[in-house]
Amino acid sequence: MAQTYQEFAASNIPVINQTMYQFLKETSKSDELLEAVDYSLEAGGKRFRPLLLLATVSFFDKPLEKVHYEVAAALEMIHTYSLIHDDLPAMDDDDLRRGKPTNHKIYGEALAILSGDALLTESFHLVATMKVDSSIRTELIRLLAKASGSEGMIAGQVEDILGEDKKITLKELQRMHSKKTGALIQFAVEAGVVLSSQQFEVKKWLLEYAQNIGIAFQVRDDLLDVIGDEKKIGKKIGADEAHNKNTYVSLLGLEGAKLAFSNHCELAEESLAKAKELTGSDKVTLLDGILEELKVLG
Ligand code: IPE
Ligand code: IPE
Ligand code: MG
Ligand code: MG
Ligand code: MG
Repeated sequence: MAQTYQEFAASNIPVINQTMYQFLKETSKSDELLEAVDYSLEAGGKRFRPLLLLATVSFFDKPLEKVHYEVAAALEMIHTYSLIHDDLPAMDDDDLRRGKPTNHKIYGEALAILSGDALLTESFHLVATMKVDSSIRTELIRLLAKASGSEGMIAGQVEDILGEDKKITLKELQRMHSKKTGALIQFAVEAGVVLSSQQFEVKKWLLEYAQNIGIAFQVRDDLLDVIGDEKKIGKKIGADEAHNKNTYVSLLGLEGAKLAFSNHCELAEESLAKAKELTGSDKVTLLDGILEELKVLG
């Protein structure tokens, strides 16, 4: 029987974690810094982005190798850095993350900032030292910089922060979500494709799938900030309203946001079906499993 997404996650999360811990331990020269970095990594997290990357490689029936786990680990390191900085008093000023006090609450703002800096920098260090064809390595570094930098995640975060107390249109909000959260999620799929296949058409539909999953993921996050259970999501709810954030719920209301969420999930499903058609597969893949998992609001 094919592996379910839950089984896939259970067997791969320990390898992703080990890859991150080992690299950071080898490169760190400060026990204090390493402790603060490990605190946020070990707090848990769904590991959605690295699993999406590995699931994309598996979509092409490729066996998972060290290099796949290294890119997956680098991606999760960037994501974790983005959360540590996102929670800082100067940004969203949050006290709870992954069910534990936020990094700055335990280690102070300076070390929290430096932990984020270390995770960001070491993620590129990890990708740069991978034993893989140099043209693939350079392409992955370029894509990772594009997704996490000033035209990707950072651009979205800037819009999010500067947009507090300002009203924006739905189109602008969709673009912001697509950058602040979508860009790293798209990288997961694109990196999986770069490491597995060069089929242009399949890539196109998988990127369309990723684009919609990326937006859906942040719409779901907006929804959970209102209807979520603090214990389950491991962070305080109601934070968006308290900061006058532009979210799908603030713009469209609860029902409108739920509708937009299911629309993006449906578009992702259609794109995945197109990609499967092109590969001649009618199997249920891990990418279907990820989508099913995402659809559950809770
Ligand atoms: C939270 O991401 C921040 C967003 C970009 C929406 P996740 O929901 O993936 O958080 P973790 O990694 O599971 O803690
Ligand atoms: C975070 O968006 C996006 C990032 C790039 C970190 P949010 O600010 O909504 O994420 P949470 O709700 O704090 O996890
Ligand atoms: Mg934020
Ligand atoms: Mg936040
Ligand atoms: Mg949020």
